Amino acid sequence: MVAFSLLAALSVSAAAVSAVVAHPHPHPEGSRTRSAPLPDRWYHDEDHPVHALFRSQPTNGKRQSMPEVAWTAQYPASSPDVNDLPQAWLDALNDAKDAGKIPALPPTTYNGVDAPHYPTGIDENRNNATICAATDRVCRIPQDVWDAPDGYMGIGFDDGPTDASPTLYDFLEQQNLSSTHYMIGVYILNNWRNFQMAYDVLEADIAVHTWTHPFMTTLTDEQVLGQLGWTIQIIYDSTDGKVPRFWRPPYGDIDTRVSAIAREVFGMTAMMWNQDTEDWSMASTPPGTTLDQIHTEMTRWLTGPKSPGLIILEHELTNDTVQAFIDAYPMIGQNGWNAISQVQLNSSWTTYQDGEEDDDAFNSFITPSASSSSASESASSGSGSSAASASASDNGLTAESNSSGSTPSFVYPSLVSFGVLVGGILVLM
Ligand SMILES: *[C@@H]1O[C@H](CO)[C@@H](O)[C@H](O)[C@H]1NC(C)=O
Ligand SMILES: *[C@@H]1O[C@H](CO)[C@@H](O)[C@H](O)[C@H]1NC(C)=O
Ligand SMILES: *[C@@H]1O[C@H](CO)[C@@H](O)[C@H](O)[C@H]1NC(C)=O
Ligand SMILES: *[C@@H]1O[C@H](CO)[C@@H](O)[C@H](O)[C@H]1NC(C)=O
Ligand SMILES: *[C@@H]1O[C@H](CO)[C@@H](O)[C@H](O)[C@H]1NC(C)=O
Repeated sequence: MVAFSLLAALSVSAAAVSAVVAHPHPHPEGSRTRSAPLPDRWYHDEDHPVHALFRSQPTNGKRQSMPEVAWTAQYPASSPDVNDLPQAWLDALNDAKDAGKIPALPPTTYNGVDAPHYPTGIDENRNNATICAATDRVCRIPQDVWDAPDGYMGIGFDDGPTDASPTLYDFLEQQNLSSTHYMIGVYILNNWRNFQMAYDVLEADIAVHTWTHPFMTTLTDEQVLGQLGWTIQIIYDSTDGKVPRFWRPPYGDIDTRVSAIAREVFGMTAMMWNQDTEDWSMASTPPGTTLDQIHTEMTRWLTGPKSPGLIILEHELTNDTVQAFIDAYPMIGQNGWNAISQVQLNSSWTTYQDGEEDDDAFNSFITPSASSSSASESASSGSGSSAASASASDNGLTAESNSSGSTPSFVYPSLVSFGVLVGGILVLM
C-alpha cells in the first residue's frame, strides 16, 4: 500500500487559524483497470434542474459594488455547516436519493496515514464496481473522466486562485493556451481578483475543486453537498451566473456515492487524471519532488505514447508548481501534442451548464485596474516559512478532514456572524 507522507508546515493567519499542512500521497503507481459499468440510472438527465438551485442570489454579479465584508459574509468561512444549507440543495439531494440515484455507502474515515477507509466488511470491497474507491486508482467510475483522447494533452491546474496564479495566467495568455482551473471556494473568497483575472481576462475555464479541499469520501452526503454547492455558488456569483460542468475531487478521493451526488444533484462530472507530477510536494521538507524530477517525468510522458492522451495533475499552488509547467511547456508542441483545456477535450462538453460561454453583462463589473499586483484581497498577513504555508495562511484556507476532530465554530450565513475556526488540518494539493 501507499506510504502517505505528512508534511508539517504550521502557519498562523491573521484570522488566528492554526493549521497543519498535511498532504498524503494517495496515488500509487499501479493498475488502472476500468470497472464494470454502473447502472444507467446514475446518469443525469439532459434537462438537469441544477439551475433552479443557484438562482435568485441577491448579490449575483455585484462583487464590485459590494463592501468586501458583505460579500464575504455570504459564504462559509470554512467547512460548510450542514445545518445551514439552502433547502433547495437538500431537497434536490433527497429527490435523487428517493429516485435511487445515490449509492448508500457509508463515509470513510481518514487516519492521516493511508487512503480513507470504509467500515470493516465494506472496506474489503472498496475496489468493486458498487463502491469504486478511486483514491486507490484501481477502479474507475465510468462516468468520470480519466484520459484525454489520443494525441491530446488536457491543460488544467488545481488549487487556485493563489498568489502564484497571475504568473501562470500571464504565461497561458502569452501562449494563447486554453486551460481549466479547479478552484477552491475559500481561495476564491480570499483571492477574488485573481479569480476575476482567470475568468474575465484569461477567459479560462472554471471548474470546482470543493470549498475547503477535504477528502470527499470522508464526508456525509450533506457535507458533500455543502462542499460542492458553496463552491458552485461563489463561482455563480462571481461570473454572473455560470454553473460549472466539471469538478475535481481533492486527492482523487471519490467513490460512487460522492460521484453520484455531484452528478445527480449538481450536474457535474468528475475530471480525474492519468499522470501526476506531485508538484505540490516541492514545498515539503524535505521536498517530495523537485523541478528536475518533474521535468524528467514530464519528458517521459510527453515523449511517450500518444494513446491514451494525457491529463496531468498540476497545481497553481506556488511559484515552483507554476514553473514546473512552464519548464515542460515547450515539449508539448515539440512532441506533436494538441494542447487544450481539459474541459474542452470532448467537443460535446461545455464548460458551464448554461452553455453560454460569453457574458458581456459581467464585463461591466470588471475593474480595469485589476491586475497581478493586487494578487490577494485577504486582510491577513501570515508569514509562513514555506511558499505553501505562506500562500495558505494568506488565503485563510481552513480545510479539514472530519477525522481531525476539529470544530468550526462559525454560524453561516443568515446570521452573518462568523466565529473563528480554532483548529483544523490544512490540506493542500
Ligand atoms: C461490493 O461491495 C459491497 C459492500 O461489501 C457489496 O454490498 C456489493 O454487493 C459489492 N458489489 C459487487 C458488484 O460485488
Ligand atoms: C488563439 O487560440 C485560438 C483557439 O485555438 C485561435 O482561434 C486563435 O487564432 C489563436 N490566436 C492567436 C493569436 O494565435
Ligand atoms: C512568485 O513570483 C512572483 C512573480 O515573479 C514574485 O513577485 C513573487 O515574489 C514570487 N513569490 C515567491 C514566494 O517566491
Ligand atoms: C465525448 O462525449 C460523448 C458524450 O458524453 C461520448 O459519447 C463520447 O464517447 C466522448 N468522446 C470521446 C472521444 O471521449
Ligand atoms: C466525523 O467522524 C466521526 C468518526 O468517524 C463520526 O462519528 C462523526 O459523526 C463524523 N462527523 C460528521 C459531522 O460527519
